[in-house]
Amino acid sequence: MADAEWVRQQAAISLDRLWPRLDSLISEQADQQQWQAFEARLRREWARLFGLLLALYGDNYDFFYQLEQILLAAGRSWLARPDWLKQLDARREAEPEWFQSQGMVGGVLYVDLFGGDLAGLREHLPYFKQLGLTYLHLMPLFDAPKGNSDGGYAISSYRRVSPALGTIEELTTLAREFQEQGISVVVDFVFNHTADEHEWARRAQAGEAEFQEYYFIFPDRTIPDAYERTLREIFPEVRRGSFTWREDMRRWVWTTFNSFQWDLNYAKPQVFRAMADELLFLANAGVEILRLDAVPFIWKRMGTSCENQPEAHLLIQAFNALARIAAPALLFKSEAIVHPDDVLSYIGQQECQISYNPLLMALLWEALATREVKLLTHSMHTRFKLPPGCAWINYLRSHDDIGWTFDDDDARRVGIDPIGHRRFLNDFYIGRFEGSFARGVPFQENPDTGDARVSGTLASLAGLEQALLAGDQRLIELAVRRILLLHSVILSIGGIPLIYLGDEAGTLNDYAYANNPAKADDSRWVHRPATDWQQRAQIQEHHDTPAGWISAELTRLIRLRSAQMALWDGTMEVVETGNPQLFGFVRHHGGQRLLVVANFSEHLREMQQNRLRVHGPGYNFTDLISGISIAAEGPLRLAAYQCVWLEAKM
Ligand code: GLC
Ligand code: GLC
Repeated sequence: MADAEWVRQQAAISLDRLWPRLDSLISEQADQQQWQAFEARLRREWARLFGLLLALYGDNYDFFYQLEQILLAAGRSWLARPDWLKQLDARREAEPEWFQSQGMVGGVLYVDLFGGDLAGLREHLPYFKQLGLTYLHLMPLFDAPKGNSDGGYAISSYRRVSPALGTIEELTTLAREFQEQGISVVVDFVFNHTADEHEWARRAQAGEAEFQEYYFIFPDRTIPDAYERTLREIFPEVRRGSFTWREDMRRWVWTTFNSFQWDLNYAKPQVFRAMADELLFLANAGVEILRLDAVPFIWKRMGTSCENQPEAHLLIQAFNALARIAAPALLFKSEAIVHPDDVLSYIGQQECQISYNPLLMALLWEALATREVKLLTHSMHTRFKLPPGCAWINYLRSHDDIGWTFDDDDARRVGIDPIGHRRFLNDFYIGRFEGSFARGVPFQENPDTGDARVSGTLASLAGLEQALLAGDQRLIELAVRRILLLHSVILSIGGIPLIYLGDEAGTLNDYAYANNPAKADDSRWVHRPATDWQQRAQIQEHHDTPAGWISAELTRLIRLRSAQMALWDGTMEVVETGNPQLFGFVRHHGGQRLLVVANFSEHLREMQQNRLRVHGPGYNFTDLISGISIAAEGPLRLAAYQCVWLEAKM
């Protein structure tokens, strides 16, 4: 690693050389005040960007050329940035913590399954507003191979919306319209791999050496075998190992995920440059938050798991620095569904400002299954805190499977055998455990290691499917209560709650995917059904049905959340409730203090008054969820799966 002072000097020398060219190309065409703001950002970020690129690519003989191209691309992209986005840049820079607001609530959907296409989706704006969303993640909507495209995660062009969904212009129009209505559009940056139909891959297939360098392509098994000694298999049901034989090329290609998803080789500066262009293009299309897909996998190193390598961080930080210069409103959200230490390693103002919280997600399900909160309490106590200016995305379900990503030592510390426990959780959620309420489906079972993950909708995993089949009113009520309990926690614990749309209406598993050859081999489709708008219309009118109850109550909870100052940002303190089934934490901000207590059992549970009193000097509270006043004269009593948000009355 070069000495920091030397790097700063070299950065300054390089910028002195590069700036006149950039200035002469752009200045004349730009608004002078805006151009000065660009220059200020560039000068602020330059040393950092330079240092990162030097560390990644300094050994390349043409480093200075690459640097110049990157800088010019940033300038051109900024020049092309529409004015409404430049105004947004200024607003976001003035208020960088905007996404910490208690008013933030996310939703995620597939454009085709939810609204048919982009035009159809726009018509659902009132639905999103009514629900209280301020963030909408559109699942991959770009051009992708026909048939199986891993739900769009195999991208054939980052600049073309899939023709069935609309055009890039329509995406921009939608993003602008939604932005004006207070909803930020989020899309994926699938940057670990492209589809094998992407132009770069096609040209590699045609034998163009330049494009073969974009990927990892090998003539025989020597190098793949050497790598595989230390690799984890991600999709063992698709194919064993991480490489795919291409008969047409008579070559092996690195494919971490499906065989048609080709991993990009970021050791090549031209790959970084090409993807930086795509990133800036998406930013200019109106995307406010980029979900960085599969971040752990983007850098490979022989002899390692090729996950979470140090260079992965340098790369993302370099993209971050570029975005700060050319599209400062843009935020990065990390998708790292790995060990909690590694998840944390991607989060920072200079890397990904926001991140999925897979640990909370998994442990909420763990606590529901065990009716015990010890692992949840311990893990959140030690692992929830984030660097300043960053936020968790707290979610219950996503389009993906659930994996049990807790730390083994955390488990042991609270008396849990991690390996046996994961097996139990899988059995529980795929309904192989006697007495389980859940109906999930296994995903990617590995015959060698016995590993598996779980698919299924929130409602089916929480017991609603089974209860409805049994026609048992009591079980139905318990399932609905579980669903509301989990939401009450993600809406209050700190960060941005994210709703997997469909869950707000109690959507059950849809087993029809098994009849579709493009989906049958991927059980995640069980929780990706098309929205049933007829059912939605009915539930608005029938609050007494389970779906109607969930939808009305969730909407009410979201409103309630946005009105609580205490729920600003992510500062959270876990409290000991003294009861193994009660999870508790405190939130405070702006003079308001809330004690949240959640009962993970289907029985009445109590928290002793002496534990309660420390949170309310006047001994009197209001539960904001039920509206009921509570005096700490006696114990706090929580009904089955009840969650309270207690505000102390002064
Ligand atoms: C991410 C996506 C997942 C996809 C994978 C490969 O994990 O969430 O759906 O299969 O990346 O792109
Ligand atoms: C990531 C996650 C894994 C998930 C996969 C896509 O690799 O680590 O849990 O299954 O993406 O589904």
